[in-house]
Amino acid sequence: MANIQSFTSIMLIFLFLSLATANYYETLSPQQLGSPEKLTHIRFYFQELISNQEPSIIITDPPKVMNDAPLPFGSRVVLENQLTLRPELDSKRVGKAQGFYLSATQKPGVELEIVMGFVLTFNEGKFNGSTLSVLGRNHIVSEVREMPIIGGTGAFRFARGFAHARTVRVDYTKGDATIEYNLYIFHYSSFPFPSHHQGF
Ligand SMILES: *[C@@H]1O[C@H](CO)[C@@H](O)[C@H](O)[C@H]1NC(C)=O
Repeated sequence: MANIQSFTSIMLIFLFLSLATANYYETLSPQQLGSPEKLTHIRFYFQELISNQEPSIIITDPPKVMNDAPLPFGSRVVLENQLTLRPELDSKRVGKAQGFYLSATQKPGVELEIVMGFVLTFNEGKFNGSTLSVLGRNHIVSEVREMPIIGGTGAFRFARGFAHARTVRVDYTKGDATIEYNLYIFHYSSFPFPSHHQGF
C-alpha cells in the first residue's frame, strides 16, 4: 500500500515537473555567443537622386493641408537610395538604403524636421547581405544629424549604436543630395544558435 502511494506521488511530481518545464522560452548564457562584442565604424555616401529618370525617392499621398514648406506636415516620402564608397556618384556601390521620411513638424517654412527610418543592406565585403535598422529625428538644416541604430541582422545581430549624417552637397534646383554617413555600431558578428532550436 505504502509503495503504491509513494509510486503515485512520484508520478505526480514528474507530471508537475514536465508541465512546469513545458515553456516557450529558455534562458541562455551570453557566454554561449562565443565571441566578444565588436565595435565597428562604417562610412558611406547616401545618394538621393530626384532628377533621375527613376527618382530614388517618391512623395506618397500629399497631405491635404498645404503650406509653403517643401514637405508640409504629414508628408510621406519613400526612398531607395544607393550607398557609395566615395562622394562621387560613380564611385563603388557598397549597398542601399530603403525607408521613409515623415514630415513631423507643424511649423511652416523650410525648417524641415523629419522622422526618418531606413534599413541599410550592404552588398560588399564582410558585411555583404547584413542589414542595419536606423530610426530617428532628422533636422535637415543641422550640420550633423544623429540618429540611433536600433538593430541589425547577419553580422549585425544585437546591433546598437548611432549614425551621424552630414550633407556633402545638395543641388537645390534638382533636389539631388549626397549625405555622408558615419556609423558606430556595437554588434556580435557570430551567433551559434540554430534557427530551428530543438532545446525544448
Ligand atoms: C554578396 O552576396 C551575394 C549573395 O550571397 C552574392 O551573390 C554576391 O556575389 C556577393 N558579393 C560580394 C561582393 O561578395
